[in-house]
Amino acid sequence: MSELITGIAELVTNDPDIGASDDGLGRLMDAAVLIDEGRIAWIGPAASAPLADVVTDVDGTAVIPGFVDSHTHLVFGGDRAAEFEARMAGEAYAAGGILSTVVATRAASDEELRQRLRHFVEELTAQGTTTFEVKSGYGLSVDDEARLVRLAAEVTDEVTFLGAHVMPAEYQERPDDYVDLVVGPMLAACAPFSRWIDVFCETGAFSVEQSRRILEAGRDAGLGLRLHASQLGPGDGVRLAVELDAASIDHGTYLTDADIDALAGSATVLTLLPGVEFSTRQPYPDARRLLDAGVTVALASDCNPGSSFTSSMAFCIAVAVREMGMTPAEALWAATAGGAAALRRSDVGRIVVGARADLVQLVAPSHVHLAYRPGVPLVGEVWKGGRRAR
Ligand code: NIG
Ligand code: FE
Repeated sequence: MSELITGIAELVTNDPDIGASDDGLGRLMDAAVLIDEGRIAWIGPAASAPLADVVTDVDGTAVIPGFVDSHTHLVFGGDRAAEFEARMAGEAYAAGGILSTVVATRAASDEELRQRLRHFVEELTAQGTTTFEVKSGYGLSVDDEARLVRLAAEVTDEVTFLGAHVMPAEYQERPDDYVDLVVGPMLAACAPFSRWIDVFCETGAFSVEQSRRILEAGRDAGLGLRLHASQLGPGDGVRLAVELDAASIDHGTYLTDADIDALAGSATVLTLLPGVEFSTRQPYPDARRLLDAGVTVALASDCNPGSSFTSSMAFCIAVAVREMGMTPAEALWAATAGGAAALRRSDVGRIVVGARADLVQLVAPSHVHLAYRPGVPLVGEVWKGGRRAR
């Protein structure tokens, strides 16, 4: 059954060859989109739209590609509201807080974790996210990591094995043994459910040498590479990610000039996570400088109980515009096509013929309202694979 969406005041396609402006959003005014068999079948002026089985008039509002959230940690037990409260009273964020979520996650049943995950999926969808990645990383034993990737695979194809999140308590005195476990039995148990491998490469988590070993083992097991780096201070993680052609390096709160040069000449996307700086009171990275240097930037939520407990891509866009020097157009591109690039996907993040029909109606006349009206629920209808998702 085909569906024509018409009455679109502003259609954001992310196709740079469409529309008059050079902001990369490929915007068409007074537009329509035809969906057929779950894919985009036609886009163009509403006045020359083809016939369809069903016609939906969005009545002068904007339509954008569904958000692509390329970085979340949604399978966990417990809550760290007290840690957030203490941080807002002056305490610093420390990677060690992850271990309290590990204790709560290990104690939770599969069914508890599944229910919570499903609730998060509804929360994301209602806010216009139609593609999302989910990491493990709160299990840190072979069995617990395997059940986290298995649960994540029930809700998304973009599953990331993050057994190297932090050193679990029982391995604090023998870190090399833990790395052996990660690259050996844990990777073997998790790879069948995962598309990606990730490491938290940071002081207090995993060194560059350990990260390299883990990423190379993941690559040998057929997984794509991602890396958490330069979140708490500068380090060599960004250059490791570029050297290994990782799809994305995420955080980048503390980047050096050499990091920016390396990223600018690479196929590695830099995924900025404004919710983290917001929730940990760290300085916002200068996205303007990165974009001007030619770095491909994505925006993601990093939704997790410790450093960023938001699932709102609209919130991330608003903060990136207000605090990081991005234009509304750049921020929207980063939250859609940028996220797709960070997942090395070309079928999502754009409204072009042949792409998956993932669209979001904004109850607003233009995409600028995403940043102009922070905190306001602007998402109207959501289509995922051509079907109404909310
Ligand atoms: O992306 N940096 C490491 N991992 C998460 C934090 C997880 C946590 O604090 O529980 C992050 O910020
Ligand atoms: Fe993260």
